[in-house]
Amino acid sequence: MKPVNIAVLVSGHGRGSNLQAIIDATRDGRVEGRVALVIGTRDGAPAMDRARSNGIPAAEVAPKAFSSDTEYAARIVNLLHEYNADLVCLAGYMRILPSKVIDAYRWRVMNIHPGLIPLFCGKGMYGEHVHQAAIDYGVKVSGCTVHFVDEHYDSGPIILQKVVSVEEGDTAGDLAARVLAEEHKAYPEAIQLFAEGRLKVDGRIVHILPKP
Ligand code: GAR
Repeated sequence: MKPVNIAVLVSGHGRGSNLQAIIDATRDGRVEGRVALVIGTRDGAPAMDRARSNGIPAAEVAPKAFSSDTEYAARIVNLLHEYNADLVCLAGYMRILPSKVIDAYRWRVMNIHPGLIPLFCGKGMYGEHVHQAAIDYGVKVSGCTVHFVDEHYDSGPIILQKVVSVEEGDTAGDLAARVLAEEHKAYPEAIQLFAEGRLKVDGRIVHILPKP
């Protein structure tokens, strides 16, 4: 099994805590792979600084700098090829990824969402909006989801989910912190399953194959 080459995509003001969790997991052996490249929509985002301070190349690819989505996608795909990426991980990337990238990396693009999909997800549901919606609805559990990315918001096949309780009096920030701790475990686990070749997509279902 060859170590997996990971590219992480972040956006705008991305803080990069999931990026850091992935880097840490590659360095302590929980993930057999390395983060080869970080692509961000804006230089100066904390996630980009975090990449560089970990010795990882960080490339700004700002959608606004391209005259079309096709050109934006082509630049991303070129970089992914240049760095021999096997897997693309969206970590706080808040846009729809252009379909040309998804086509080029079908079932090799993952995203993490801070809720239990299919609840509290879709366009406009990101970050604290998700946690506020969960609290306002009165759910007693929430969590995070790692899923493969398709052409729609938060709709691709689910790889794994982790659950936390929603406590009486929780603010969105309290819930976000509890969920984030689980995100930092879930993403490396999902990536390692990919690295081991144990994820088999069958329609909506992701089968997790037993360890050989
Ligand atoms: C994470 O909580 C992630 O689940 C969420 O953005 C945060 C990024 O934090 N993503 C979405 O809401 C996507 N719909 P990070 O920059 O510290 O990893």
